[in-house]
Amino acid sequence: MSVEAYLNKGIKEIITEFPKVEEILDEFEIGCGTCGEDLCLLKDIVEIHYLDESVETELMVRLSNAIFPDKAVEFPKRKREAKGPREFNYSPPMKKMVDEHVLIKRWLALLPKVIENLNLETEEGLQLINNGIDFIRNFADKYHHAKEEDETFRYFDENFDMIKVIRNDHVKVRGHVKLMVEAIANKDKKTLAQHLRSYSEILPEHIKKEDEILFPWMDRNLTTNQIGQLYTRFNEIDEEYGDSPQRHRIFIEELENKFC
Ligand SMILES: [Fe+2]
Ligand SMILES: [Fe+2]
Repeated sequence: MSVEAYLNKGIKEIITEFPKVEEILDEFEIGCGTCGEDLCLLKDIVEIHYLDESVETELMVRLSNAIFPDKAVEFPKRKREAKGPREFNYSPPMKKMVDEHVLIKRWLALLPKVIENLNLETEEGLQLINNGIDFIRNFADKYHHAKEEDETFRYFDENFDMIKVIRNDHVKVRGHVKLMVEAIANKDKKTLAQHLRSYSEILPEHIKKEDEILFPWMDRNLTTNQIGQLYTRFNEIDEEYGDSPQRHRIFIEELENKFC
């Protein structure tokens, strides 16, 4: 089988054929073996993770040694922009979404305290958790996830693995939120805490995937014109939402003053 054929082969299949590949990817902190999705091709992995050039060269040498142990085979070098690793020059619309993540991360940092202090018996306790649910539903989901799903994803093939992974995370999160609302109605503190915890486990990794992999990848694949369209659309959405994002920001600040 040729090098090109391997680049176009699913990573899970390659791992099944050459288990050593999983170990190598793990060493480079690319957790394909444990990823629940089953669709990335070897070339996607290299493209998506956008490693530092010297690291990528080393990874490819190690992978080719694992796949072709008996011959010296080199994977072709990928064309890349002159940009360092982990330095993301986000376009204005991506930057907007990254900035929104900052507020969501502040909420996630508060969640252990929110869970610890849950009280469904008092007016104040109910007010706090209902404001939290309002933040999750209206800021993190409606306002922010809608920018991702309804606006940004439409420029890409829905079958692309990374988009499927991100969409699945959104679906999982919505499932937990629905059960949180039910738990509040049933005054079931234990179930509520359980779903808040599950939510807080999904979101940090989800945001990291977007900030470090998905958004930079999208930026590299959108035309200048598309980026302009997106930015215009995001500004329209911001207009539509008026002062409600600011209201959510104040909620987070007040919570930080209360708990920090
Ligand atoms: Fe997201
Ligand atoms: Fe996001």
